[in-house]
Amino acid sequence: MRDLLPEQTPLWQWLEGEITRVIAAYGYQEIRLPLLETTELFKRSIGEVTDIVEKEMYTFDDRNGDSLTLRPEGTAGCVRAGIEHGLLHNQVQRLWYQGPMFRHERPQKGRYRQFHQIGVEAFGLAGPDVDVEQILMTRRIWRALGLGALELQINSLGTAEERGLYRAQLVDYLRAHEGALDDDSRRRLTTNPLRVLDSKNPALAGVIAAAPSLLDFLGADSRSHFEAVCAGLRAARVDFVINPRLVRGLDYYARTVFEWVTTELGAQGTVCAGGRYDGLVEQLGGRPTPAVGFAIGLERIAALLEAVGGREGLGAPHAYLVAFGPAAEAEALLLAERVRDRLPWLRLVMHCGGGGPKAQFKRADRSAAAYALVLGDTELARGVVGLKPLRGEGEQEEIRSDELAAVLAGRLRAN
Ligand code: HAM
Repeated sequence: MRDLLPEQTPLWQWLEGEITRVIAAYGYQEIRLPLLETTELFKRSIGEVTDIVEKEMYTFDDRNGDSLTLRPEGTAGCVRAGIEHGLLHNQVQRLWYQGPMFRHERPQKGRYRQFHQIGVEAFGLAGPDVDVEQILMTRRIWRALGLGALELQINSLGTAEERGLYRAQLVDYLRAHEGALDDDSRRRLTTNPLRVLDSKNPALAGVIAAAPSLLDFLGADSRSHFEAVCAGLRAARVDFVINPRLVRGLDYYARTVFEWVTTELGAQGTVCAGGRYDGLVEQLGGRPTPAVGFAIGLERIAALLEAVGGREGLGAPHAYLVAFGPAAEAEALLLAERVRDRLPWLRLVMHCGGGGPKAQFKRADRSAAAYALVLGDTELARGVVGLKPLRGEGEQEEIRSDELAAVLAGRLRAN
């Protein structure tokens, strides 16, 4: 679990702002959900024989002896809340949420035990159009963030029945190649054979590549849904790769699944993943309700943005106000308030704590502010403020105190 330090949070605030702005542009509304749910909810939705439920959940008994779990993902809680508050009955809901998720995985680059997602879920829409809409939304998010090199992989998992047929064929095939499997895959053969396709073990690559393809087992409806999704993406000029081995690590999916992947983060290259889960609402006690959604992994997006660079100055103060002597210090506090009244967007740091010019300017410089505002006794007596650029060229100027806000607005807008 990581601390996000003050040098990192400006990037996070910016990326969260951009992502949620795009989501709102598609008419999705925020829902805020608890971090704790009953353990049963996750077992029933994510699936008993998934890695998450088998070995990654933070589960404990509360004082009443009820088994609770820190949410490993957001979809289950969102569906639970939708059913509980009658949000899903005979209506369309487009929802989003954000916050920390918890999985007791082996930590490594891009994989943490507390991580953060922004997730999106649409309920009550069965057609392929909303699958396409959500993928277009993700593309718009990457564009807003300036992320270029992401690959979209899609697949269809068909319906539960279609997957059942496929599963039987796959097990036959894998049994015939059992000697080539590793221990983990051999175990999955009896518990969750589709997950064998997701193995990262290079020794298995050949066996997996030659395995039967789920796409060959789709019925007419699933096939036409998938074709319509592909056609919609092509019409919107979204590049994608059909990956018939894309199976996802949660059991609730049916039909469309997709992942956005990058090669720039090593093994943990999936920055966003999701798909359709038409059976889940009913499975959790609601009426049959089609649903589709995805979640973005914010640590991975932040890592990509850090690697690209170019946003280092984000969140730095615009100005740092230094003042020398008791009278100037007292006036500086009031001056800062007047400037903030005029410019609500301005980030203005007041030095506070006194000290000589050298020490104060050193702090001003370290703050990464664009300008120092200087108030000494001479400036005070003449009703002016010194404006000193701290980055790049430029001499200190004198600005009339009552014009300071207007001058700052002009200079900072011009940048
Ligand atoms: P997921 O694939 O388990 O799906 O997670 C979505 C994304 O969260 C991943 O692609 C990754 O970027 C990020 N992520 C997952 N685990 C970690 C971790 N340990 N450390 C850092 N980032 C991580 C879901 O959670 C589904 N609820 C998505 C969804 C919503 N499907 C339909 N609606």
